[in-house]
Amino acid sequence: MIKLDGFSSIFVANWKLNGNLNFINQFFHQIQIPKDISKCIVICPTSIYLDILSKKKKNFFIGAQNVSQYEGGAYTGEISSNSLRDLKIDFCIVGHSERRQIFYEKNNDINLKSSQLIKDKIVPIICVGETFKEKEKGKTNEVLENQLKECIPDSSNSTNTIIAYEPVWAIGTGLTPSLGEIETTHKFIRENNKKFNNFKILYGGSVKSSNSKGIVALTNVDGALIGGASLKLEEFQKIIKD
Ligand code: PGA
Repeated sequence: MIKLDGFSSIFVANWKLNGNLNFINQFFHQIQIPKDISKCIVICPTSIYLDILSKKKKNFFIGAQNVSQYEGGAYTGEISSNSLRDLKIDFCIVGHSERRQIFYEKNNDINLKSSQLIKDKIVPIICVGETFKEKEKGKTNEVLENQLKECIPDSSNSTNTIIAYEPVWAIGTGLTPSLGEIETTHKFIRENNKKFNNFKILYGGSVKSSNSKGIVALTNVDGALIGGASLKLEEFQKIIKD
């Protein structure tokens, strides 16, 4: 298992269903990963390219975007955490809001997936976040508390699990909470359970080069989960350089 406590900041590129072979070759031909090894850079391509990327990895890490909650068996189309381990994958995003909303993943599925990953020494990056409606009703903390309680498995601790706070309304919209709101919510997550005190907590949702520095500098923010901007080489380069 990767040693998380050695990292000062963690930047996770979530490519979602984007990027072909040509894109990958160009991206890695041009990108300059910072020499500072306390920065952890994780690239999460679609699963079909995990193996290719894993073979290219030098000073960055590879993450999957999803995993099966099952170890093996008659589950057509699924990918097991065990096979991710075979490919030397170190991280996996779990419970992204697109998986929750489009593919109906529930907190309990996320808990089971995260358990499988931990068992196979892969760090789950467990996503939590409120919808705009929930925010408007003042339910952010209540929603987060419930997601944290139900999604984070008993086997999780600060050395094997990352939490990502991603307000659903901020994903791909260009909207973000204020810096003050991000800090308050991250502090809420950290203090919600003693167990989370030393967890790495990332922020995600419309992170770009113009706002990343301020967000990542917040006391309770340990890095960022980046969607759209991670596909634009210049943007991503600036974000990880700051
Ligand atoms: P975004 O996506 O940076 O494009 O808002 C973030 C995410 O989906 O993790």
